[in-house]
Amino acid sequence: MNSSIRAAKLLHVLAATAFLFAAASAGNFDQDVSITWGGPRARILNGGQLLTLSLDNISGSGFESKNAYLFARFDVQLKLVPGNSAGTVTTFFLSSQGPNHDEIDFEFLGNSSGQPYTIHTNIYTQGVGNREQQFRPWFDPTTAFHTYTILWNPSRIIYMVDNIPIRVFNNYAANGVSFPAGQAMRVYASLWNADDWATQGGRVKTDWSKAPFTASYAKYNAVGCVVSAAGNSCNGNLTGQPWQTQGLDGNGRNRIRWIQQKYMIYNYCADLIRFPRGLPRECKLPRF
Ligand SMILES: *[C@@H]1O[C@H](CO)[C@@H](O)[C@H](O)[C@H]1NC(C)=O
Ligand SMILES: *[C@@H]1O[C@H](CO)[C@@H](O)[C@H](O)[C@H]1NC(C)=O
Ligand SMILES: *[C@@H]1O[C@H](CO)[C@@H](O)[C@H](O)[C@H]1NC(C)=O
Repeated sequence: MNSSIRAAKLLHVLAATAFLFAAASAGNFDQDVSITWGGPRARILNGGQLLTLSLDNISGSGFESKNAYLFARFDVQLKLVPGNSAGTVTTFFLSSQGPNHDEIDFEFLGNSSGQPYTIHTNIYTQGVGNREQQFRPWFDPTTAFHTYTILWNPSRIIYMVDNIPIRVFNNYAANGVSFPAGQAMRVYASLWNADDWATQGGRVKTDWSKAPFTASYAKYNAVGCVVSAAGNSCNGNLTGQPWQTQGLDGNGRNRIRWIQQKYMIYNYCADLIRFPRGLPRECKLPRF
């Protein structure tokens, strides 16, 4: 083996090792989040590796991240409420505080046994949402853990499921479209009763004889710029780490096109009835 091949092999091994370390350094619920409501209905288990939320006829439950971030990548694995989950909503989202808040949502709307979940996404900027896109999962989200990702960098927001991009919201601030770029956000997660609207438009109610309902979270990981009293951990450097500039390459664009063609069930950008005076501006700009 000549030395350059040896060096290349070594680099390859190092890269693989770095990747393993990155994966192994995944967060710990005990350290990274606080249970904020529902009392004993939220439980951190397995030394911080697993968190379960449950919902009964008295209350749901939820947690939030201890850190606030201004741009970051958030990954979590989720196993949703199995069986008859009608009326329940499981969430994983980012939000800032205050009246004109920013928010980036992943919500999972339950359904009757055997009927499909809805993966609901929405983005609020300066207190205004109305940017819903919904998807059908292409797998049963209740039998195994799947990874859900919100990547939020200065150029775009990418939603991913099992690392497959399903939605992109580009920063078109230069075109007059507001983009969440000025308010730090925390992660929030919850399981709650929304049977007035969630399932089949509110027609199917929660069957309380099946309570408690439980959803499980694992492998929570947030990598990003932490905002605290000490300042911003990125110090204005928003190009040094891959997530900070990540976008879609040709392969990513092909995958998202395919996913949106096959699994998108609602797109505000295609809802002319809702926007009779014209679609929102970002809907007329390149999607990915
Ligand atoms: C809630 O569920 C419990 C257990 O099934 C039951 O005993 C109780 O009566 C219910 N409470 C209400 C307010 O429906
Ligand atoms: C529940 O199942 C029905 C029938 O398949 C479907 O129309 C609906 O979109 C599903 N999801 C929700 C959240 O209602
Ligand atoms: C930004 O961070 C990266 C890696 O963290 C570093 O290599 C780069 O020099 C930094 N750039 C500036 C301008 O500080």
